[in-house]
Amino acid sequence: MTASTLTATPAAPALAQTPQRKLFIKSFGCQMNAYDAQRMADMLRPEGYGEAQSPEDADLIVLNTCHIRERATEKVYSELGMLRDMKEQRRDSARPLRIAVAGCVAQAEGPEIFRRSDVVDLVVGPQSYHHLPQQLHDVALGQRVIETEFPADDKFAHLAAPGPDAIRRRGLSAFVTVQEGCDKFCSFCVVPYTRGMEVSRPLASLVDEAQRLAQAGVREITLLGQNVNAWHGVGEGGHRAGLAAVLARLAQIPGILRLRYTTSHPLDMDEALISAHRDIPQLMPFLHLPVQSGSDAILKAMNRKHGAADYLALVARLRAARPDLALSSDFIVGFPGESEADFAATLALAEAVGFASTFFFKYSARPGTPGADLADQVPEAVKVERLARLQALVEAQRHAYNHAMVGQTVPVLFEKPGRNAGQITGKSPYMQPVHVEAGLDVIGLELPVTITSTSTNSLFGHVAPST
Ligand code: 5AD
Ligand code: SF4
Repeated sequence: MTASTLTATPAAPALAQTPQRKLFIKSFGCQMNAYDAQRMADMLRPEGYGEAQSPEDADLIVLNTCHIRERATEKVYSELGMLRDMKEQRRDSARPLRIAVAGCVAQAEGPEIFRRSDVVDLVVGPQSYHHLPQQLHDVALGQRVIETEFPADDKFAHLAAPGPDAIRRRGLSAFVTVQEGCDKFCSFCVVPYTRGMEVSRPLASLVDEAQRLAQAGVREITLLGQNVNAWHGVGEGGHRAGLAAVLARLAQIPGILRLRYTTSHPLDMDEALISAHRDIPQLMPFLHLPVQSGSDAILKAMNRKHGAADYLALVARLRAARPDLALSSDFIVGFPGESEADFAATLALAEAVGFASTFFFKYSARPGTPGADLADQVPEAVKVERLARLQALVEAQRHAYNHAMVGQTVPVLFEKPGRNAGQITGKSPYMQPVHVEAGLDVIGLELPVTITSTSTNSLFGHVAPST
C-alpha cells in the first residue's frame, strides 16, 4: 500500500461517443484507488458517462473511499452530508443526482452506510466494480443497491482487461494490478479486512494486458498490489514462481522500457526478486519498501515479523545487487507503547538507510485491528512532536538525495508538457520529476538528461547531446 493522499480524479474525457451523462469520482487513499477510479471511468464510458469538471456538474458522484486513517468513515459521512442539499435540489429535475460510495469504507461499512445516510444510492466494494453498469441500471429504476461480497469464483473477473479505447487513455505510464489483498495482518492495518486475503492474478492475464498496453504506446508499467511482492503463481515453464518471474516476462515485451512495482513487504523480498534488480535492465532502481518502525519491540507489536537488523541486512543485499537503488518507506510514529528509545531507533534506522523519499503517519487506532485494543496509546502531542522530528530528518535526506543528482546525467522518460511554456516533464529512474526545455517531439522518448539544479520536489536539466 502506498501513502494516503486526497486526489480528485475526474473521469477522462470521452472520445468514442457523445456522453449523455457526467461522472465525477472523488478518490481518496492509495494508488490502488487511483487505478480503480480509472477503471470505473473506463467501465462507465460505454454507458454514456463523460467527465464532469466538478461535483455540481455531475449526474453520478462516486466517493472512492479509503479506510486506512482514523475518522476515515466519519469523513465519508461528512462528505455525504455536504452532498445532501445538492441532491435534494435536483430531486424532481430531469437530471437527478446519483451518489455511490465505493472503496474500502464501502467494503467495511456495507449496509450501515444506507442506515446512516439516505443520500446514497449505491454501495459498492472494490471487487464488484465490474458490475457497475448493471448496478446503475437498478439504481435508475429507483432501487438502493449494495454489493460488497468478495467473489467466490473468479477472483479477477473485476479486472477484466480494459478495451482498446481505455488502454489508449493510459498515456505512457500505466498500472497493472497483479495481486490484491493481504494476509500479513500487521496489527495497525485494516487492509486484510477490507481488501480480503491475498490473491494473485495469473501470469498469462498479466502478460496479455501488458502486451496490449505496450502496443497502445505505454512505455512504463507499474505492477500494483497491496502486497505486490507476495505475488505467486505458475511461471512460464510450469513451475511455481514469484514476482521476479513476472518482471522477467514483462521485460521481454517490445516497447516496455521501464518496470516498477509497489507496495512490497520486506518478508516477501526473496533472492530471485533481489537478483532481478541486478539482472533486469528495465526494472527501475527505485523501491518502496515500508519498514514502519526502527524498534524491534514495536515491529514485534506491529506483527511485522522482522526486526530492524533484518531490514538493514535486506537493504544491504538489495544495494549489493543494484548499488544505485533508491529506497522509499512508510513510517508510523506513536504506535501503542512506543517509548522515546523506540522512536530513537526509528530515527537511527532512517539515518542508516538514507531514504530518497518517505511517507510518515501518526498512528491512528483502526477499530477491529489488534492495535486498537492495546494499552499504552501514545498521547497526541507526543505523536505530533515525534512526527515533526522524523519529518525534519527524512526531508533533509530527500533534499540531499535530490541535490546529489546535480551534475549527473540520467535517463529520463518524457511524459508530457510541463507547467511552463516550452517545458517538458519526465521522470528519472529514481521517480523524481525532471523538467527540461525541449520540443514536444521528445514526449515518449527516454533520453539522457544532465541535471543542473533542483527545487523542493523536482530536478531541472537539459537533454545531453548524443555522442
Ligand atoms: N495508522 C497510521 N498509519 C497507518 N498505515 C496503515 N494503517 C495505519 C494506521 N492505523 C500506514 C502504513 C502503511 C501506509 C499505507 O499507511 O505506514 O504502510
Ligand atoms: Fe496492511 Fe501490513 Fe498488509 Fe501492508 S503488509 S497491507 S500494512 S497488513
